[in-house]
Amino acid sequence: MATKRKPPGDASPFLPERFSLPKLREAAKSCHGCDLYIAATQTVFGEGSSNARVVFVGEQPGDSEDVQGRPFVGPAGRIFDEALTKAGLERKQTYVTNAVKHFSFEPRGKARLHKRPRVGEVRACSPWLRAELDVIKPDVLVLLGAVAAQAVWGAQFRVSQERGVVKPGELAEAIIATHHPSAVLRAPDSEARKRIFKELVADLRAVKKLLQD
Ligand code: URA
Ligand code: SF4
Repeated sequence: MATKRKPPGDASPFLPERFSLPKLREAAKSCHGCDLYIAATQTVFGEGSSNARVVFVGEQPGDSEDVQGRPFVGPAGRIFDEALTKAGLERKQTYVTNAVKHFSFEPRGKARLHKRPRVGEVRACSPWLRAELDVIKPDVLVLLGAVAAQAVWGAQFRVSQERGVVKPGELAEAIIATHHPSAVLRAPDSEARKRIFKELVADLRAVKKLLQD
């Protein structure tokens, strides 16, 4: 007899009946929509105002974010803040979140190494992102890196080919994908580091311009 496979779960049973950012944040604390909650410290929900006109979506919390419970507060967050400042944007005018709300990692001795979330985990977590966007209804949605971009545009999307291109979509009138701030940290040499940072800033300047139009 064939064994019955358990259907893959997702976050939807954990969503509150009515959406508001405080209600979503509270409910997300006890999400078991995929297995990532088991090893992670806590849910790292998005942060910012429900009136924000721009939403940034990263990949998943890193080690520091997992410990502090806030998105983009570690090394990638510092690059992100620097790029925002260079582009004339302020973090407090924005809403910042991740495609996946729990830290996915590989233990290596005492360290916890970032592990790219699986497609199934991104899919399982997407009801939270969709709910955040449903409340905020941003004018501009910025996808930081391949995981966030593929969460919205599908697995075929290539950030290397399509970064900086503004496209309309269901989730916002203007959607733009750019480098993940960690790509600056992972660059193989200082020339690549400078180039990636410059491109990230240029894309954020385009975001600033969209907000002014
Ligand atoms: N990288 C991300 O994608 N998100 C964070 O919150 C931190 C690092
Ligand atoms: Fe739920 Fe997302 Fe955490 Fe998985 S990663 S348990 S879907 S909040």
